[in-house]
Order: sequence, then C-alpha cells, then structure tokens
Amino acid sequence: MAKTAANGLLAGALARIAQDMDATFDRLLPVPQDPRMRLVDAMRYAAIGGGKRLRPLLLTATAAMYGVDRDAALRAGAALESVHAYSLIHDDLPCMDDDALRHGKPTVHLAFDEATAVLAGDALHVFAFEVLSDPATSGDPFTRIELVACLAHAAGHKGMAGGQMMDMAAETADFDLPTVTRLQQLKTGALLGAAVEMGAILGHVPAEGRTHLRGYARDIGLAFQIVDDLLDHEGDEAAAGKALRKDAEAGKQTFVSLLGADRARAQARMLVDQAIAQLASHGEEAELLRALARYIVERNH
Ligand code: IPE
Ligand code: IPE
Ligand code: MG
Ligand code: MG
Ligand code: MG
Repeated sequence: MAKTAANGLLAGALARIAQDMDATFDRLLPVPQDPRMRLVDAMRYAAIGGGKRLRPLLLTATAAMYGVDRDAALRAGAALESVHAYSLIHDDLPCMDDDALRHGKPTVHLAFDEATAVLAGDALHVFAFEVLSDPATSGDPFTRIELVACLAHAAGHKGMAGGQMMDMAAETADFDLPTVTRLQQLKTGALLGAAVEMGAILGHVPAEGRTHLRGYARDIGLAFQIVDDLLDHEGDEAAAGKALRKDAEAGKQTFVSLLGADRARAQARMLVDQAIAQLASHGEEAELLRALARYIVERNH
C-alpha cells in the first residue's frame, strides 16, 4: 500500500478507536449517586478523553484480521486499556514518578487526592477482569478464561508490575543492555503483547498460528519503549502532554543512556522493519498492523 494511503488508514483507525474507547468507558462506568461517586469520577477522569489508545487499536486490528465482532473486541480493548490507565495513575503517584501532568491535564492524585488515586487505580485494575469475564465479551467460557489469564499474566509480577519494579531499581542499579531490554519487555512489552494475543484469542487463532503475531508484538513493544525513552530525552512537552527529561534527572538507565540517542533510534527502526517482516504471510488484512508499527517510531507523543 502507498505511504499516503497507509497514513490515511492509520489516522482513521486512531480517530475511530479514540471515539469508541470513550463511548465504551462512558457506557461501562456510570457514576453512582452515592459517596462512591468520587471514586468513579476519578476512574472516568483517567480512562476517558486521553491517550493514543494504542493497545485497544492493536487488539481490535488483530481481531479484525480474524473476523471478530467489533463490539466484543472493543470490550476486550477497554479491559486492557483499563489496566493501562491504572498503571499510569500509579506510575504518576508521588511514591513512583511523582508527575503532575498526564494527557495534558493534572494527574489523578492532583485533580483528586492520593487516596482516591490509589483506589481509582485499584478499581480500574479489577474492572478489567470484570469486563473480560462477562459473557457479553465472549459467549465461550474457554475464550473468557483465556483472555483473563492472558491479561493477568501480562499485568502482574511476570509482566508490567514486574517491569515497573525493575524500572524503579534502574535509578540506582547499574543495569547492562540485556537487563534494560528485559525491563522494557516487562514494563511496556507485556501489555502491548497482550493486545495482540487477546485479539488472536478472540479470533480463535490456534497457538501455533500465533508465533508470528508474538514476534511482531515483541518487536514493536521494544521499539515503542525505545521511542518513549527517546521522547523523554528530546521530545516536546506540549505534544507529549506530560513532563519530559525525567529519566536523566532520575539517573535512570534506559536505551538512550546506554546506547545514545542515535543508536537507540536506529535500533527502534530496525525493530519496526523486523516487526513488519513478521507479517509477511499476511496480505492487505494486516496493513493496519504494519502502519501501526511505523507509527510507533514516527510518533511525537
Ligand atoms: C505511556 O504509554 C507509558 C508507557 C508504557 C511508556 P502510552 O504512550 O501508550 O500512553 P498513552 O495512553 O498514549 O498516554
Ligand atoms: C510507565 O513508564 C510504564 C507503565 C505505567 C507501565 P514511564 O514512567 O516511562 O511512562 P511515562 O513516561 O510516565 O508515560
Ligand atoms: Mg515510570
Ligand atoms: Mg512515568
Ligand atoms: Mg517514560
């Protein structure tokens, strides 16, 4: 596909997923008219109206390749994004990155308060599994449990939370490149990998048919975090909607600190080419996944 057509496809898909995620969260998270109102307001503040929605887009794009109903894929996408939103609320807390701005607005603990932010994160975390285990996501109980297991594995100590622990340690420890690679694969790669895997689960793709998808996800996951580190190093704060230059300030080991910006950028580009090569067995139906891989290195936020 020509580059302009691929850009159009991606721009349309990004706009559509943003709208669909906002509508899905709005529908799934009604505000109770009792003292829990503040908690649900904080959950909605974090989940609605911000973020690139890359994970739900990856999930729905993969699911669409296998003919999955879009409403089911959107529910699974909202579950995954709910875990992502929780991870960002907690990541921004004073005890972690102590950030004041996210998606161009005050972080949850500043817009509300710290206790509410902790609870909103907790509630969004478990809400994901409530959505996945609902028969509206899939009528097949085996599919539902597979989705739950996949997301639980990607979010916990073997995935995102484990990566966040290593990331905290990277401020003081002297990690080498393989260790930083593992850190990034857990911190960021795990949830991006779950996006593709959950799309494949909904599509009933047998395990042996997922190998190339896992390869694609691993490559874009790593490229994504290298670019996050590059943007932290040299990006524009207004475009990012969050404070930058935090990693160097914290003395954190990243791809950029270990390789330098130029080699880190070259590595991200190489990974994106590799990710696209993983999709060689697919035709036009994988064009959105290819465009997404390119977007990951070209983005400015
Ligand atoms: C930011 O992720 C946090 C990392 C895992 C590096 P995104 O850049 O996907 O965050 P939003 O949701 O689009 O803001
Ligand atoms: C956050 O990583 C990753 C997760 C929340 C899992 P960062 O701390 O690098 O993310 P930003 O830069 O604050 O978005
Ligand atoms: Mg962090
Ligand atoms: Mg952070
Ligand atoms: Mg960062």
